[in-house]
Amino acid sequence: MLAAVNTLVITGIDAKVVKVEVDLMLGLPGFDIVGLASASIREARERVKSAIKNSGLEFPNKKIIVNLAPADLKKEGSHFDLAIAAGILAASGQIDPLPANYYLAGELSLDGTVTKVPGILPMALELAATASDAVFIVPEENSKEAALVNEITSYATSSLMELYTCLSGQASLRSVGVFNPDEYNHIDKIADFSEVKGQETAKRALQIAAAGLHNALLIGPPGGGKTMLARRVPGILPEMTREEILETSRIYSVAGLLNPTNPLIVNRPFRAPHKNASAASIIGGGKIPHPGEISLAQNGVLFMDELPEFHRDVLEALRQPLEDKIVTVARAQATYTFPANFSLIASMNPCPCGQFGSETTECRCTPIQIHNYLSRISGPLLDRMDLHVEVPRIKFEHLKDESSAESSATIRERIKNARVIQARRFARSKTKLNSEMRPADIKKHCRLDESSERLLKKAFESFNMSARAYDRILKVARTIADLDESTDIHIGHLAEAIQYRSLDRKYWNK
Ligand SMILES: Nc1ncnc2c1ncn2[C@@H]1O[C@H](COP(=O)(O)OP(=O)(O)OP(=O)(O)O)[C@@H](O)[C@H]1O
Ligand SMILES: [Mg+2]
Ligand SMILES: [Zn+2]
Repeated sequence: MLAAVNTLVITGIDAKVVKVEVDLMLGLPGFDIVGLASASIREARERVKSAIKNSGLEFPNKKIIVNLAPADLKKEGSHFDLAIAAGILAASGQIDPLPANYYLAGELSLDGTVTKVPGILPMALELAATASDAVFIVPEENSKEAALVNEITSYATSSLMELYTCLSGQASLRSVGVFNPDEYNHIDKIADFSEVKGQETAKRALQIAAAGLHNALLIGPPGGGKTMLARRVPGILPEMTREEILETSRIYSVAGLLNPTNPLIVNRPFRAPHKNASAASIIGGGKIPHPGEISLAQNGVLFMDELPEFHRDVLEALRQPLEDKIVTVARAQATYTFPANFSLIASMNPCPCGQFGSETTECRCTPIQIHNYLSRISGPLLDRMDLHVEVPRIKFEHLKDESSAESSATIRERIKNARVIQARRFARSKTKLNSEMRPADIKKHCRLDESSERLLKKAFESFNMSARAYDRILKVARTIADLDESTDIHIGHLAEAIQYRSLDRKYWNK
């Protein structure tokens, strides 16, 4: 007898529907899976067989052929178990054939427990987009992911036996329930900006970065508060929109990083990879490509503390995603694309001893040491840092200053406002934030008056700027004008944006 059960497969961060066909034939008992199945799927045979037997159900003593269609799609993952097991139960007449709008995903352990799998969120989103009458059955531990997609009906199951009793009509399926992102919002637990004394310029630059999702490079001597400042940026970013939650969570879902206690990404990511991290872990990669830190930082912050200490291949590999806001990983069978739209906040000392350029303390490094240190940050990488920010050592009076500075909540309101302005501007566009503007957007939204035009021309020529720096200045100027609630970019907005591009000349002598 033949049975068919639907499931899905993940490619990159997308999902596609796969049909699992199970045929029981007379002949020598056996169990084969065909249809471009990876080794991990072929391992399903042992798990499915034990799970069926250990659930007290019957494993047919026949020749079992499982075909995964379409055949040209490479299939990967352990979540096929549940559909294969249900297909065997249906083909052997232990349950009725499954309705055509049912989709199953879950891994089985040998005792018949259904365990969590990566990718449930993109699967649910794919069903919502293509099969609105879909009934999706997922592991209990993944139920929050499915619950976020309320366009389809999803049920949770924790064991093969439970699924069997429901599919054979002895019990009803359990709903995944509702998911309220607000319950999981931890924005109030992030350390507050008001704890940072002084450093007004750096605070201002980080607000601009947060408002338009621009990149910032903090340079200064040890102990000035660079790390302290960067760690507080997620607290001034506005709460994530539903769209952003879905977009970011699906990356974590594919990476298998969502878990029942942290069911979805509702807090802005703040990823701080270690300086020894490999290019594959930061950029993404692996045999079956996995999203890297730059994708896990989607809609949030990638913090690279002590930037020059990172491996050179990591720094160079960052250039493409910093420009395109996506990262492409090519493999023999396919090319995978992951989103990578984040604000890069990097920090560094200006030299190995940290005092180069200081007015108060003398630098003990030789010119060649300084040169070697700074040259780890290549020109093209530096070019992509929109805001160069000097974080000097803080003065004693400032440190003792008890008058409290602005709180993260107050700053966040201003940034929210700038984001509302951007949302209105880009309402009918794929672009969402100023930092994502393409040349046509820049032309349309970053018009300058004559005197501003002259100022930019002068800066361009005397600072020997690249075309990229030119575009980036305009984008930052746009964000500064938005923070000021100004429809036009005025010369003051532009001048401030230009001023954040000055450190390459001070330190890199360009
Ligand atoms: N502006 C500041 N206001 C209040 N405390 C500060 C400030 N700057 C530094 N500190 C104190 O000094 C500590 C060290 O600061 P932080 O680690 O952020 O410096 P850094 O610039 O990252 O230094 P390094 O270059 O050595 O990494 C902080 O934990 C904090 O206690
Ligand atoms: Mg530090
Ligand atoms: Zn030095």
